[in-house]
Amino acid sequence: MKIIWAITGAGHLLKESIEVLEKISKKHEITIITSKAGQEVLQLYGYNNKIKKILEKPGNTYITDAEQQYSYPLSGKLTHEKYDLIVISPTTANTTAKIVHGIADTLITNVAAQSGKGQIPQIIVPVDQKEGLITTQLPPYIDKKKCKQCKTCTANDKCPQKIINPPYIDTTKCNSCLKCEDACPYNAVITKKEIQLYIRKIDAQNTKKLEEIENTTTLLNPNEIIKKIEEMN
Ligand SMILES: Cc1cc2nc3c(=O)[nH]c(=O)nc-3n(C[C@H](O)[C@H](O)[C@H](O)COP(=O)(O)O)c2cc1C
Repeated sequence: MKIIWAITGAGHLLKESIEVLEKISKKHEITIITSKAGQEVLQLYGYNNKIKKILEKPGNTYITDAEQQYSYPLSGKLTHEKYDLIVISPTTANTTAKIVHGIADTLITNVAAQSGKGQIPQIIVPVDQKEGLITTQLPPYIDKKKCKQCKTCTANDKCPQKIINPPYIDTTKCNSCLKCEDACPYNAVITKKEIQLYIRKIDAQNTKKLEEIENTTTLLNPNEIIKKIEEMN
């Protein structure tokens, strides 16, 4: 299958989305697209190397919102270039709100609108599902209060990329290998910090409205995408 996989700027369900994307990219031809926030968040969480690896397979391509013109030429292609499926995972509250209100002013919301016009099936995995608290993970960072800015940083010694310059990590080069995580004697490298966020009623309501959109299947977990693709095949 020829699939567009869109990544918006959500940290929640990002790890799970990338894991599924890695699996399906081995069997299918994938065009990865990112929103401007999606591109930043991929970098912050250290997934750029995983994306690079996926793109090593011939046929797989990557298009960013930042490199498109205002009319989003890629979305126009959907009507004449045969894509079999569009996946948006993870989908931020922002992109979900725009899609359910028919707004198309980014690459991903344009692609979502064109999926309806081109009758291409679309799978959306929204991150804000039910009103209430969720637990999500922050990208890796250095706790400046704990960091002693040692001359020789033991976390940087363990880092294969040598990108820790206390009290900063160059996340543009981080590949999330987490070899640094227990290396600092002061526990200043924080890799799995969890925080609680409150999902607003309006965001949960927007997610519910996705069900009303033609050609669209809402899934609550990226892992469900594999089964859905198998069914479609
Ligand atoms: C580290 C980080 C994690 C984020 N995680 C989420 C998230 O899980 N869900 C969400 O709705 N927005 C999240 N955001 C905020 C979005 O990136 C922001 O609303 C952005 O404008 C969304 O743009 P997009 O929908 O075009 O991708 C996060 C931002 C950052 C910096």
